[in-house]
Amino acid sequence: MRKFILPVSVFGTVIGGAVLLKDYITGGPCPSKAKIPGKTVVITGANTGIGKETAQELAKRGGRIIMACRDMEKCEAAAREIRGSTLNPHVYARHLNLASMKSIRSFAKKINEEEKRVDVLINNAAVMRCPPGKTEDGFDMQLGVNYLGHFLLTNLLLDKLKDSSPSRVINLSSLAHIIGEIDFTDLNWDRKKFDTKKAYCQSKLAIVLFTRELARRLEGTGVTVNALHPGVVATELGRHTGIHQSQFSSSVLSPFFYLLIKSPKLGAQPSIYLAIAEELEGVTGRYFDVLTEKEPAPRALDQEVAVKLWDISASLVGLETTLSVPVSSAYVTKETHPQPVAADSTQTQTHPVETMTTA
Ligand SMILES: NC(=O)c1ccc[n+]([C@@H]2O[C@H](COP(=O)([O-])OP(=O)(O)OC[C@H]3O[C@@H](n4cnc5c(N)ncnc54)[C@H](OP(=O)(O)O)[C@@H]3O)[C@@H](O)[C@H]2O)c1
Repeated sequence: MRKFILPVSVFGTVIGGAVLLKDYITGGPCPSKAKIPGKTVVITGANTGIGKETAQELAKRGGRIIMACRDMEKCEAAAREIRGSTLNPHVYARHLNLASMKSIRSFAKKINEEEKRVDVLINNAAVMRCPPGKTEDGFDMQLGVNYLGHFLLTNLLLDKLKDSSPSRVINLSSLAHIIGEIDFTDLNWDRKKFDTKKAYCQSKLAIVLFTRELARRLEGTGVTVNALHPGVVATELGRHTGIHQSQFSSSVLSPFFYLLIKSPKLGAQPSIYLAIAEELEGVTGRYFDVLTEKEPAPRALDQEVAVKLWDISASLVGLETTLSVPVSSAYVTKETHPQPVAADSTQTQTHPVETMTTA
């Protein structure tokens, strides 16, 4: 019996050490114990991966959870599972296809009409490195779903978020934003040769620029906006990439993956943290690398680019917006009929100023 003590304790130490190292490398669990009864949380792409785990944990903490997904069968199944495991009956499946402005407008209309409040909006859904394709409205699929769809959705829910303040918007970006470039001459890959990796990185850089610009516009409203990179997480995001399907990666590399790649549950911790942590009350316009606030890439800090991107995006999705508002002022967008403009427009002022408030 004694001869087993040493190997067993070495084994235990190695396993314990690996778990601690993994926690260290991957960020560990959300440090906040806050509960959120009475708070309404909208999560896009919540039927799987990080979004589903975020929904699960926030339901456990007492929130009213609206899971916004494109596939209602998957969404209903996930909502049912979460209701069952958390015993929280207030978990709802709702249809939202971010590749369709019609669907986004219809979803936002329902939320605005049916929900008393929206305390947290988590813009989580994404597609990564998919084959070339366009959304229903002719946008590049990755820019359209990951960024423009969330840009429109957020703007359409802004009044509700303001009425519910203090409230929070959380945008899932990625470390990939670092190598992203915003190409104003061809945002939607209409003319140049399509590069799916660059398209993803552009969409994730756009999200950080959007986060900072929206935070600036919402100054003084009680609505905060932050972006995050969740870490490297084992989800379905890589479904279009070779590595996801390769035997080599799933067998030979799996011990390394164990240390570096987190479970969706761990991957959801940054979203949960930004959604509930009391110490983040009033923190806005920031970028979090997992649970730690960090400076995003220099390209994400360019305010001129952020303003230009905002105005072009507003035109593309049919929102009117004001321009050239001083850095310290808050200003708003107003919904109008869609009036798409060419993505290569160098004009940042595409519509007359409709609304301007200091709300
Ligand atoms: N996993 C990582 O390592 C990692 C790293 C950095 C950043 N992120 C970011 O984390 C977020 C969550 O990703 P994940 O890893 O959890 O990916 P995932 O497992 O692939 O989940 C993505 C979710 O987005 C949904 N979605 C895709 N297209 C949509 C559309 N047109 N309309 C509505 N929903 C749509 C998917 O729905 P279906 O199930 O119907 O396809 C799914 O629910 C993403 O923003 C991603 O960029 C992830």
